[in-house]
Amino acid sequence: MPSPEATLLQSWHINADAWIEVIRSGAIESRRQVTDQAILLAIMGRQPERVLDLGCGEGWLLRTLADRGIDATGVDGDTTLVEAARAAGSAKVQVASYEELVDAKVNVGRDFELICANFSLLHQDIIALLTAMNALLVPGGALIIQTLHPWAVAAGDYQDGWREESFAGFKGQWQPMPWYFRTLSSWLNALDIAGFRLIGLQEPQHPQSAVPQSLLMIAESR
Ligand SMILES: C[S@@+](CC[C@H](N)C(=O)[O-])C[C@H]1O[C@@H](n2cnc3c(N)ncnc32)[C@H](O)[C@@H]1O
Repeated sequence: MPSPEATLLQSWHINADAWIEVIRSGAIESRRQVTDQAILLAIMGRQPERVLDLGCGEGWLLRTLADRGIDATGVDGDTTLVEAARAAGSAKVQVASYEELVDAKVNVGRDFELICANFSLLHQDIIALLTAMNALLVPGGALIIQTLHPWAVAAGDYQDGWREESFAGFKGQWQPMPWYFRTLSSWLNALDIAGFRLIGLQEPQHPQSAVPQSLLMIAESR
């Protein structure tokens, strides 16, 4: 029986083409209306020169940062997504699983002023990965994580644990994806243990929505 982590990454291999289509057609309303802008503003607010986009997917954020003069490097565990990012103009993108990054088997560079993870921390043991990322930052460098808001997606079960995303409502053929639900305190503990100090927490919201569209955490390396 494969681990949920293995099934999770495998689902991205299967869903990569459908994901590229969804992102590039702007089909996810919450991204278009709220969360893309939220992470961009949070990053630009730090005025970084060098950024690592962890779990960069097909690279929309890399391109957006490059358009603003930022030296953006990307890393993702899926080859199809990385190739799509390269084909769309991002030269510095590599394939590496989070496991490989933890074990330092792939060199993505270091001395980043900022590392961002936009809806890309979906597995259980994020502490090892965050600790590895901390080592790639300049002293006082920042980590920005945008993720599903736990209170908006808890569905009456507010405890850490594996869930399943079926991608219902998305066009095309999708493989269900296991993902790890994390409470707010679990996120904050993970940051703390990995050597980060939370300096900002945002709940990006659309004026016509009753719930936040995401949870956005800004932390600094201690
Ligand atoms: C929801 S997508 C987000 C992509 C991108 N950050 C964006 O904003 O569109 C999640 C990304 O995390 C990557 N990912 C998930 N688990 C991974 C793992 N174990 N190792 C490397 N990448 C992984 C997937 O390949 C996918 O590109």
